[in-house]
Amino acid sequence: MADYDESRLTVVDHPLVQHKLSILRNKTTGTKQFRELVTELAIFEGYEAMRDFPLEDVRVETPLEVTTCKQIAGKKVAIIPILRAGLGMVDGILDLVPSARVGHIGMYRDPETHIPHQYYCKFPPDIDQRTCLVVDPMLATGGSLTAAIQFLREAGVQDIRCLTLVSCPEGVKAVLDFDPDVRLYTCSVDRQLNENAYILPGLGDAGDRIYGTK
Ligand code: PRP
Ligand code: URA
Repeated sequence: MADYDESRLTVVDHPLVQHKLSILRNKTTGTKQFRELVTELAIFEGYEAMRDFPLEDVRVETPLEVTTCKQIAGKKVAIIPILRAGLGMVDGILDLVPSARVGHIGMYRDPETHIPHQYYCKFPPDIDQRTCLVVDPMLATGGSLTAAIQFLREAGVQDIRCLTLVSCPEGVKAVLDFDPDVRLYTCSVDRQLNENAYILPGLGDAGDRIYGTK
C-alpha cells in the first residue's frame, strides 16, 4: 500500500496514453517525435486535470431553437512550466485553454547533490486568483516540484494542480506530503530512482530529449 494520500493522485492511464508513453520511453525515439508526444500527452493530462471545473448555464440559439447549454464558469487558469523541460507541455495545455496565462519558473538540478537551483521566476500579476497547472515531464526526488509549489503558495495561489508525465514513488510522496492540498496528475508512477536520482525505467533526461542537447 502507498504511504501517501492517494486521493490526491490521478494516474492518467488511458490506453492511448500508455501507447504514446511507451514510444516516449524508447531510446530510439528522436527529438521531433519526442516533442510531439510530450505535447499530446500534456493534452490528455490537462483534460483530466480540468475535469472538475465548475459549469454554468448559458442560453444558446441553435439554427432550430433556443436551448440551455453548459460553459465553464469563469475559471481563470495559469500554466506554470518548470524550465526547461516543462516548456514542452505548455502548447498542449494552451490548445485546451487558449486564454490561459503562462508563468515561468527556471530551475535546474545540481548534478551532484540533485538539489534544485532557481534562476528565473515570473508570474502573471493576478496569479493568486488563478488555478495553476504546474507542468514538468519528470517527478524524481520532488525537489523541483516542491520548490515550485512553495513559490506559488507564497504568491497566494490556492488551487495548485501538478502535471507530470513520469513520476516515481519517492517524488510522489515528497510532493503530496509537502503540501496537504496540492493535486498531482501523472501518466505513470515508475519503479524507483537510481543512484543518480534518475527514474527507472523512466525515459532519460527529458530536457535533453526535448531540446536535443545530448
Ligand atoms: C528535470 C525535470 C525536473 C527535475 C526533476 O529538470 O524536468 O524539473 O529534473 O527532478 P527532481 O524531482 O529530482 O527535482 P532538470 O533539472 O534536469 O533541468 P532541465 O529541465 O533544464 O533539463
Ligand atoms: N530529470 C529527468 O529529466 N529525468 C529523470 O529521470 C530524473 C530527473
